[in-house]
Amino acid sequence: MRIAESRVLHRSLRGDLPIAARGEGVRLYDTRGREYLDACGGAAVSCLGHSHPAPIAAIKEQAETLAYAHSAFFTSEPAERLAAELLKRAPKSFAKGRAMVLNSGSEANEAALKLARQYHLEQGQSSRGKFIARESAYHGATIGALSAGGHRARRATYAPMLIDVGRIPACYAYRGRKEGESEEAYGQRVADALEREILRIGPENVAAFIAEPVSGATLGAVPPVKDYFRRIREICDKYGALLIADEVMCGAGRTGTFLALEQEGVAADIVVIAKGLGAGLQPIAAILASERVVKAIENGSGALAHGQTYMAHPMVCAAALAVLETIERDKLLDNVRARGEQLGALLGARLGRRPHVGDIRGRGLFRGVEFVRDRESKTPFPTQAKLAQRLKASAMARGLMVYPASGCVDGISGDHVLLAPPYIVEPSDVELIVERFALAVDDALAGVRADF
Ligand SMILES: Cc1ncc(COP(=O)(O)O)c(C=O)c1O
Repeated sequence: MRIAESRVLHRSLRGDLPIAARGEGVRLYDTRGREYLDACGGAAVSCLGHSHPAPIAAIKEQAETLAYAHSAFFTSEPAERLAAELLKRAPKSFAKGRAMVLNSGSEANEAALKLARQYHLEQGQSSRGKFIARESAYHGATIGALSAGGHRARRATYAPMLIDVGRIPACYAYRGRKEGESEEAYGQRVADALEREILRIGPENVAAFIAEPVSGATLGAVPPVKDYFRRIREICDKYGALLIADEVMCGAGRTGTFLALEQEGVAADIVVIAKGLGAGLQPIAAILASERVVKAIENGSGALAHGQTYMAHPMVCAAALAVLETIERDKLLDNVRARGEQLGALLGARLGRRPHVGDIRGRGLFRGVEFVRDRESKTPFPTQAKLAQRLKASAMARGLMVYPASGCVDGISGDHVLLAPPYIVEPSDVELIVERFALAVDDALAGVRADF
């Protein structure tokens, strides 16, 4: 459809958009009958593909029984069951914790920041109201979440409205590691920046440090180097700051374990998960609060200083329960790991030696490919070349959905593509994804070469 003729306030008011008509398994179809192999789940959302019967049945049943009951008047069975199921999948320190269910990653991160602040207040540490986050992070679009985010281009328009957040470098070995420096030494160096930032702000003022365990939208599936998060945990503990893991994109099984931080052997104090938890069938995000955080409130004011109309929505919770049950019953995390290995290996074999492919990275079914003009110097393409957008367009033209982003180098320049196919993806789908992606890369680079 021509956007100029639409009455929807779209993300871009120029160009065209196909009209999505239906979804089936790992494919979406538009109203012209064109097929799109979904290699990114939109934004790492559709983990069960597009027509999985289990959550659909759960939503129908819940809608017919109880669609909505305000959380200040009632609790509901799906909300109680979902909280218990989520905490079961979290580290031990969450066994006596609690879960709050909201509807988007941004608002959940916003609520997580507020929860961290309340935790300190409950303990009489009223000066602790500052947060520290990383460069190039993405935590969402609302003011608090955007303030925590470190992507320059996304923050620029709203700069005068944002709150002051302490900043440390990302853990991004491909670009940050110095010549001759080991991965571990690099990890300790960038983690140690947190200690310096806490001391600069004053430990008595710091509420929490927030980070994505595997960086998603803005850096493109960048996993941490070994022991980075162990050092981060040590520093948080030393200065009494909470650790918030933003697993909105990388959590709920995307990297092959239910929580991505599990693989680092570290537990956060507050975890936020979202996208894969609802698999796109309902808008959901959940905040998991560890026992330590919950106890402070239970022993203090006894009330959460935060509330929203659609908190713990029964239909949303019922859908998420069905998603969790399906992931477990069908052993989908085994598939995430196996197909993830296959995807990583095929990307490496097909694209790894190309002159403009700088880095291929990721874990599970969460993979990123970063493009460079020159491999040796890692120089990105000029921003005017809009390579990431060209990659998205050329992939769509070949019937493939990938998630493009720019700004991985400095918040403005640098192009990468994120691949996050559904957990139900078959080996032959993975082959087709890489096949179509390699052709789309050729098309996009040919366009750039012709224009620049
Ligand atoms: C790590 C992370 N946090 C927060 C968000 C914001 O979530 P939402 O777009 O649902 O508000 C995103 C979205 O991409 C994300 O990737």
